[in-house]
Amino acid sequence: MGLSRVTLAGTGLALLVSSIPMSSDVVASVWTGIYTEAQARRGELIYPAICGRCHGYKLDGAPDDPDMFSTPPIAGPKFLRNWNGRSLAALFEYTRTQMPQNNPGFMSDQEAVDVVTYMLLVGGIPAGPIELVPEITALSSIVFEEPVEPGAALGALGVGEQ
Ligand code: HEC
Repeated sequence: MGLSRVTLAGTGLALLVSSIPMSSDVVASVWTGIYTEAQARRGELIYPAICGRCHGYKLDGAPDDPDMFSTPPIAGPKFLRNWNGRSLAALFEYTRTQMPQNNPGFMSDQEAVDVVTYMLLVGGIPAGPIELVPEITALSSIVFEEPVEPGAALGALGVGEQ
């Protein structure tokens, strides 16, 4: 999927990419610093009022509202296992169109992507220098991976290989 996008983007890039071993897809891992901390802090301002009631202040699925049923965790190891191999586009789309469950579609694209970055921050996925943009094409090239040794992660992405 990623490769066909690259092919569309330009033959030169496709050739360059196909010459790099182990990266048939131009895909980034969520662990490579794909959002900013400032952005996650904006998400943090949105979260308590519209998500915390059900997913809890720890994002672990224990609701802040004692009358609420428990919900899935939206940060941490179990959440990462759930989303392993899927893209940020899928998570963004789900969050934007299905959540908050009591008022889906209520958030703007920007708010939804900011809340997603807050989920990443709480889950221990490191921030970086560039904001995550609410654009499906960009988001679909960033995937969840189980945390691995930093060196192994770079190797899997083809970084450092010629
Ligand atoms: C009224 C309660 C409620 C509110 C408010 C709510 N959620 Fe949810 N959320 C749920 C329930 C219940 C599920 C599980 C739905 C299912 O499995 O079909 C869920 C599922 C999710 C999932 C998918 C988790 C997974 O691994 O499958 C994400 C992500 C999520 N919510 C994010 C959010 C965010 C972000 C907000 C705030 C913008 C929010 N939710 C607000 C009840 C809520």
